Amino acid sequence: MSENSLNKKAESWSGRFSEPVAELVKQYTASVSFDKRLAEFDITGSIAHARMLGAQGIIAQTDVITIESGLGEILDEINAGQFEWLLDLEDVHLNIEKRLTDKIGDAGKRLHTGRSRNDQVATDVRLWLRATTDDVLASIKSLQISLLDLAEQHAETIMPGFTHLQVAQPVTFGHHLMAYFEMLKRDAERFADCRKRINRLPLGAAALAGTSYPINREMVAKSLGFDGVCENSLDAVSDRDFSIEFTAAASVMMMHLSRFSEELILWSSPRFAFIDIADRFCTGSSIMPQKKNPDVPELVRGKTGRVYGHLVGLLTLMKGQPLAYNKDNQEDKEPLFDTADTLLMTLKIYADMLRGISVNKANMRQAALEGFATATDLADYLVKKGIPFRDAHEVVALAVKHGVQQGCDLADLPLIELQKFSPMISDDVYQVLTLEGSLASRDHVGGTAPTQVKQSIVRARKLLS
Ligand code: ARG
Repeated sequence: MSENSLNKKAESWSGRFSEPVAELVKQYTASVSFDKRLAEFDITGSIAHARMLGAQGIIAQTDVITIESGLGEILDEINAGQFEWLLDLEDVHLNIEKRLTDKIGDAGKRLHTGRSRNDQVATDVRLWLRATTDDVLASIKSLQISLLDLAEQHAETIMPGFTHLQVAQPVTFGHHLMAYFEMLKRDAERFADCRKRINRLPLGAAALAGTSYPINREMVAKSLGFDGVCENSLDAVSDRDFSIEFTAAASVMMMHLSRFSEELILWSSPRFAFIDIADRFCTGSSIMPQKKNPDVPELVRGKTGRVYGHLVGLLTLMKGQPLAYNKDNQEDKEPLFDTADTLLMTLKIYADMLRGISVNKANMRQAALEGFATATDLADYLVKKGIPFRDAHEVVALAVKHGVQQGCDLADLPLIELQKFSPMISDDVYQVLTLEGSLASRDHVGGTAPTQVKQSIVRARKLLS
């Protein structure tokens, strides 16, 4: 044998070629360094395929048994870190198939009957992503529980609510946190919905057109826990919209966590001093001894950009590809894996970080007292006494201007002063000017009254149970 044909022996498609692949090309085209992560799912998929081939009489039952035990041993080798991954064998699929053939001979060579790496890789990615989505869903739930625990402790803790980052109206800290619960609830819905489209079987599509063997796709789908088969072979091997959807859901979720992080960063800054983040989530400065930096929320904010990048990367990867499979698709894995790793780590660390947040109630309350947060309540009070809202708004604006000049809040102005702005004001006004009065009056579903916040927490807990 010539040296060339010896080299070619490693390659499964070798017969057609008259020279081996260039070394640099091998490195450029190989994916094993990252797709070996799919090994367990590749083996699970292969076993289901082999069993179907046996059940349909396409290969012998004795071959099925040998294939299964060979693949089982290979999985053990991989889990024990004893499997030798070879760049020469390009990807996870060829590495495992070659090892199987080395172990069991001809039966191993029969495994790929009626199958292509094109439907094989699409199946592996879907199996991996389904398991990952389940992990994401469980992690969202843990984070939601942390959030509910914190919200419950602070259903009555008063803080200023902001618009334009200026004090707007008083809210409870619990109510503010429950806003994030709602966002996470929708995030979980998005992942659960995306899972339905992930959970379809590509196997049987073979390279692109299907296969001439009498296969049973439903059997494979059922044994792998898929809800059904991909109905068009060209689509089955070529689209990666399910990965894009997952990454889109991850991007939206990271956007939510990034906003939350921005608030944690602001609130923990000494300028706000609303909260303290436990030391284990912060670092110091190598030059400024007084510093305690909120690194974790800052990194969540930073990593959000990275996940958006993966979404744009995947969309761009797909946009110019003609049907069906193209090697471009090999580039789908790293962004997808990194998106999932980033999101999962973020979710886990966030759940723990929320448990380490302590609240400075006095500072929160003081901030709510300082920004004329009950001005709207005064306007509403005047409306209830018969003044049209627009006029009431103007009356209160003048009273606020006066308060600013005097350096005091509306509640600190004596009745006689307040009455200069409207004779309709009487001493019952102080009930609405207090923070507690303002909160208690917003007593409807979605409002910030502590009784409503508590009810929303009860509903949320029920939803998670
Ligand atoms: N490593 C390849 C991928 O990830 C597997 C499919 C290869 N198929 C092919 N026709 N070259 O997409």
